Amino acid sequence: MSNKTQSSASSKCVRVCQNRACKKQGAAKVLAAFKASVVPGATVTATGCLGQCGNGPMVLVLPDRVWYSGVRPHEVPMVVEQHLLDGQEVKKIL
Ligand code: FES
Repeated sequence: MSNKTQSSASSKCVRVCQNRACKKQGAAKVLAAFKASVVPGATVTATGCLGQCGNGPMVLVLPDRVWYSGVRPHEVPMVVEQHLLDGQEVKKIL
């Protein structure tokens, strides 16, 4: 109950754009990578266009409203560990 890391991770929601522009840039693989490595409690959902086409694949983390652009599948574990678990934004791909 007083485990802060767990409670903050469990309230996160990761949205991965699966609309055309992002899909062309590999969003399906990014979504799959998130689904494969996401932490218990955090949710991962596919979403429609996030209005940032061309910078994709776009990922939005709620409720922090943190955006990641041009996310590559190999960067997903880093986002999961640093952001979802440690609560630190991954500046490189913000
Ligand atoms: S298609 Fe992904 S942000 Fe528009």
